[in-house]
Amino acid sequence: MSFAATDLEELPSAIWRDLERAVTDEANPFRTPVLGTTNLFECSMRVVTLRHADGAKRELACYSDARAQKVHQLKLCEQAHWLFYDPARRVQFRISAHTMVHQNDAIARDHWQRAPLAHRRNYCANQPPGSDIHAPGDAISPELKSPKVTAKQLEPGYENFAVLVSTVDQIEFLQLADEGNVRAVFNWTVAKWSGLWLVP
Ligand SMILES: Cc1cc2nc3c(=O)[nH]c(=O)nc-3n(C[C@H](O)[C@H](O)[C@H](O)COP(=O)(O)O)c2cc1C
Repeated sequence: MSFAATDLEELPSAIWRDLERAVTDEANPFRTPVLGTTNLFECSMRVVTLRHADGAKRELACYSDARAQKVHQLKLCEQAHWLFYDPARRVQFRISAHTMVHQNDAIARDHWQRAPLAHRRNYCANQPPGSDIHAPGDAISPELKSPKVTAKQLEPGYENFAVLVSTVDQIEFLQLADEGNVRAVFNWTVAKWSGLWLVP
């Protein structure tokens, strides 16, 4: 279903409903947005998995290795961009958000406990993401790859686990349609979303 996109007031809650739904729906294209960060000289983008969306708190979150480039960039510049696109519905959201890195705190621990063991393994590499290695898989010790691996064996990975929590301050909406594209921008102003229609 595409957005009716006629009521500016109702769009932000419809957008958040969509994002919240995507977190638990593996087939939903909004579950794998692009996250953009910057080191102030250049931008860097990558696909991530949406792990949390909460319209009431204006929050989006994903996980990362704390040693990854995106985390270094967020420590330099906390403003990140999220790009969501659903090709079937022809809807794009471009979202700007202040983003905090949570590591070794209550938020990180809560998400770590909920992450399946197979996912926790990803944070057990003995070198930072992007380091060069001889062969694929070299950075994770063979015993951690066993299907019988335990939570205790994977616990050292917790140190490298980060939850990137964004608080959204702007949402730009674009609905492509044969009868005319529709674009709008919403800025968070004190306690509500203030929207404007834009020329597409
Ligand atoms: C479908 C898909 C989902 C991904 N999800 C994540 C994720 O949730 N977190 C993450 O750090 N990397 C994820 N990645 C890998 C990133 O795209 C990227 O390669 C990695 O995070 C390193 O990026 P960086 O060096 O810019 O930090 C995903 C890649 C794909 C293709």
